[in-house]
Amino acid sequence: MMKAHLIRCQNWFDAYTRSFLSGDAPLDLPLQVKIEHTAAVQANMARLAIALDGSSDDRALAEMAGLLHDVGRFPQYKQYHTFRDSVSVNHARLGLQEIGRHRVLHGLPTAARRELAFAIAHHNAFMLPAHPDRRRTLLARMLRDADKLDIWRVFKTYYCDGRRLNATVDLDLADTPGYTPAALESLRQGRMVRLVDVHNRNDFKLLQIAWIYDINLAPAFALMRDQGHLAALAGTLPSDPVLGRVVKDTLDYAARRAAGLPPSNL
Ligand SMILES: [Fe+2]
Repeated sequence: MMKAHLIRCQNWFDAYTRSFLSGDAPLDLPLQVKIEHTAAVQANMARLAIALDGSSDDRALAEMAGLLHDVGRFPQYKQYHTFRDSVSVNHARLGLQEIGRHRVLHGLPTAARRELAFAIAHHNAFMLPAHPDRRRTLLARMLRDADKLDIWRVFKTYYCDGRRLNATVDLDLADTPGYTPAALESLRQGRMVRLVDVHNRNDFKLLQIAWIYDINLAPAFALMRDQGHLAALAGTLPSDPVLGRVVKDTLDYAARRAAGLPPSNL
């Protein structure tokens, strides 16, 4: 039954996102990147649902969350020509407004609608707030993990595969040498890097590496290892002994979690 809803959502998403394309390739590129990203997050959600032994309805719901999580990016780009929420609008909230306005979740059971809304609303939050509903929390954790897994892929295609970097996708950051010590210190402490400490591309890579500490689910660590995007991304950082040590410790932690081991030997 959820599968039928998923197909309906997919058809809506395809038509909705197509309506934002202008036909001007450079202008449309950031949106094409988001369309590809959406398909990949949806695929990651399917993989996580299977790894977590979800039912076929659970899997369809998980895919719906992946499919709809970045709907707000399209009107955000149209109106503000940026993906920086801090200078435009919260794209998660904007997406939920669009989903409501177009009645995309019409006909879904109330519980499923609430689970989807919670996951989408918090997919880009700095931290996931505690919530007593276990299903809501699980879907939100899956979505945050699936999204990060694919953001690593997106940036890996820029930093390693030589895909032309688009300033909108890269948050308009300068490609200057060196890094901000406060960003590395957050990573060393196993904390998220704050955007105020991100001043160039290297800082942004450190921020992405620190997301490892915000990955929730064991199968997501395994997917991260198998996909290999983050390790490749880390390989593009400048060679610096202090930075290298911290990054290695972080990747070692991820490898342990992927192998199902406790976070450290201590
Ligand atoms: Fe997003």
